[in-house]
Amino acid sequence: MSKKLLLKYEHVPGINTLEVYRQHEGYKALGKALKTMHPDDVLEEVKKSGLRGRGGAGFPTGMKWSFLAKPEGVPRYLVCNADESEPGTFKDRYLMERIPHILIEGMIISSYALGAKTSYIYVRGEYYYIIKILQKAIKEAYAAGLLGKNILGSGYDLDLYVHPGAGAYICGEETALLESLEGKRGNPRIKPPFPAVAGLWGCPTVVNNVETIADVVPIINEGGEAFAKIGIGKSTGTKLISASGHINKPGVYEIELGVSVEEFIYSEEYCGGIRNGKKLKAVVAGGSSVPILPADLILKTAKGEQRLMTYESLSDGGFATGTMLGSGGFIVMDEDTSIVKNLFTFARFYRHESCGQCSPCREGTGWMEMILRNFVNGKAKTSDIDLLWDIQSKIDGKTICPLGDAASWPVAAAIRHFRHEFEEYCNNPQTIKEVKHYFRFNNLQEV
Ligand SMILES: Cc1cc2nc3c(=O)[nH]c(=O)nc-3n(C[C@H](O)[C@H](O)[C@H](O)COP(=O)(O)O)c2cc1C
Repeated sequence: MSKKLLLKYEHVPGINTLEVYRQHEGYKALGKALKTMHPDDVLEEVKKSGLRGRGGAGFPTGMKWSFLAKPEGVPRYLVCNADESEPGTFKDRYLMERIPHILIEGMIISSYALGAKTSYIYVRGEYYYIIKILQKAIKEAYAAGLLGKNILGSGYDLDLYVHPGAGAYICGEETALLESLEGKRGNPRIKPPFPAVAGLWGCPTVVNNVETIADVVPIINEGGEAFAKIGIGKSTGTKLISASGHINKPGVYEIELGVSVEEFIYSEEYCGGIRNGKKLKAVVAGGSSVPILPADLILKTAKGEQRLMTYESLSDGGFATGTMLGSGGFIVMDEDTSIVKNLFTFARFYRHESCGQCSPCREGTGWMEMILRNFVNGKAKTSDIDLLWDIQSKIDGKTICPLGDAASWPVAAAIRHFRHEFEEYCNNPQTIKEVKHYFRFNNLQEV
């Protein structure tokens, strides 16, 4: 059984309330931090833990915190990124819904470490009911003296606000999020300056994912070294994985980093194998943005080693034969899945969500959707495969923010590993018959 740090008490009735949360180690870490630790000691524990950002990029959290500029007389902010809009990723929602106080406790400890007096949780607009859950939990925390002035008699003050987004994937990109929080259109900013120097209202700001911030609670409770002992190499601690697709047991799992992909897919503790006894065809391991891998490459690396659920193992082989852990949105596809249709769905999403600031992304995502629509329609030519490849290569790495990369990587990987499927879609009467049904079924317009 994997050790659980965040979801340890997920099934305790009433764990979403302050009273029950407190009966199960809740706010113990906060008491320890405020009463026995200097803010720098908290930072030191986070560094020791080896915690890496759980929002997708996997940047070391302790290092990010230590970059925070500390000019005298200027406020500093901590902003929690709860925008969670990456297709296939739903673990932050799960955590906030079940155990909202672990995020609030993590926010207070992290704000204390960073010297922030005002902090924000920016929540995806569609998570309306989560916003209500968080607001209720924050109200309870204020009433219990865990937020506001002189928290637990320590002399430390913090105000915490929940800010709803308006339902835009781009607002998960940290600088677009900050723009949105300031009341502007969520367009990503050009970096540098990074938020650590000029973030919210131009002040030093740290933006962290929900899970990253929640992880600070067990790190303070058990110590950074204990956290670092879980996992393998630079992939320390546990990780929440959103498992979906053609598996017997979809859901959110807390794994110890280092579990093998095979165990994760097939064991009863996690996904319970492929639905209806079908064969595994492919996996998108870290949310829609990361490269898809066929069954053989997701189970074993190109060197023949067992693939593990770690940052390093999943990316072994680079994009040629590897992928990324990303946000942990693990989408499993069985032998009946059409990679081309799946890619078309992703392409529609990215075209819709591009903010339109950068030409390669604005124009390229539209072209990719249009060409993929032709494939799905059975109206594409084999030369369109190369055209699609060419377009994605002209987006990748050429935009202000990584949404362009996120749109191009799935296209490149699908062509790299499943080129034959694109060819099968070209001028194939059987495909055309099937897709007519697909378009009718999904209420899509043929072109
Ligand atoms: C288009 C786009 C969407 C993103 N969406 C999210 C998101 O919903 N949640 C999140 O934590 N990070 C998201 N990120 C990553 C953030 O920019 C940022 O790296 C992250 O919040 C940092 O937190 P961490 O260091 O704790 O991972 C997104 C990035 C991009 C480019």
